[in-house]
Amino acid sequence: MKQVNFSLLATDGNARRGRIDTPRGDIQTPAFMPVGTAGTVKAMYPEQVRETGADILLGNTYHLMLRPGAERVASLGGLHTFMDWERPILTDSGGFQVMSLAKLRKLDEKGVTFRSHIDGSAYSLTPERSIEIQTLLDSDIIMQLDECIPLPSETREIERAMELSLRWADRSKTAFNNQANRALFGIVQGGDDLRLRAKSAAGLQSIGFDGYAVGGLAVGEPQEVMFEVLSGVCPLLPSDRPRYLMGVGKPDDILGAIERGIDMFDCVHPTRAGRHGHIYTRFGVINMKNARHKDDARPVDEQSPNRNCRRFSRAYLHHLVKTEEILGAMILSQINLAYYQELVAGARAAIEAGTFSEYAEATRAGWAGGDL
Ligand code: GUN
Repeated sequence: MKQVNFSLLATDGNARRGRIDTPRGDIQTPAFMPVGTAGTVKAMYPEQVRETGADILLGNTYHLMLRPGAERVASLGGLHTFMDWERPILTDSGGFQVMSLAKLRKLDEKGVTFRSHIDGSAYSLTPERSIEIQTLLDSDIIMQLDECIPLPSETREIERAMELSLRWADRSKTAFNNQANRALFGIVQGGDDLRLRAKSAAGLQSIGFDGYAVGGLAVGEPQEVMFEVLSGVCPLLPSDRPRYLMGVGKPDDILGAIERGIDMFDCVHPTRAGRHGHIYTRFGVINMKNARHKDDARPVDEQSPNRNCRRFSRAYLHHLVKTEEILGAMILSQINLAYYQELVAGARAAIEAGTFSEYAEATRAGWAGGDL
């Protein structure tokens, strides 16, 4: 029997509150998954990631197949043991990272061949090999191999990539072989063309997946276009399966996507922005590099539930960022991940209470009000 199950617990408008049960623990949705690309959420201990409220992390096939290698991770007990994170892990399938990072890429019907961005050595990734790698990593939620193309692109090109992704979805499902202890998600492609998106969503459902991701967004289009695609696609997806918007986004993107029916998110933004000196708060984003913080003895937010927001002065964080101290990256990554978790926890509570639109409005008003 399938050991990964989704329960839809409440709805409020199109927003959904749910829970994904897995053998490694439950995932409360809407969920934000911190990105642990290479077996680490950068600058964070696993227990700190958990303390921010994360139920699940994202790992990457592409990075881990290059270093340290999927077979090596498997022989060391799998990714959870390797990084000492015992809760669920979702792994991306690799295609997206090959297209953005690898050298000398060549894509055909079989899959994609490329050279490592680290040492130039040659690799190939097929739908079957991607499933094999994700299984070796002992991932709890496996993604199909797909082709994600930038926007804007020609309709013909969007259609070609979407159709290829559908054929790869079918091969992924066969290779996955109905493993009971993990889930396999399909990925809707089709760019900004709702007809192609509908064809993709229908094709994936006839193959049948444990969850449905929306890929090919936040690839160059305005937020408004992304929201239009989500408003068009979400009603075409089954209500009894989780929906995952890949690689998104800023807090405002996440709120708008929850409003349209998305359940899961991942993004490097909170940790990357933290390493670059940006802090996300209920007042919006603060650039800690700015000289105006030099003599500011106030904490980031003395009313925050997060101790790091109450503990250190803005002047100190400004100093750590300016001097590129490692502790600066650690504190700012923690603050941002905690804020993202606070945002989705607030959304979950509001959907349960039937007050999601008030929550969204108050949250946006807080951001618009700016820093104190
Ligand atoms: N990450 C962000 N967007 C995508 C996508 O379209 N496909 C995959 N596999 N990963 C992504």
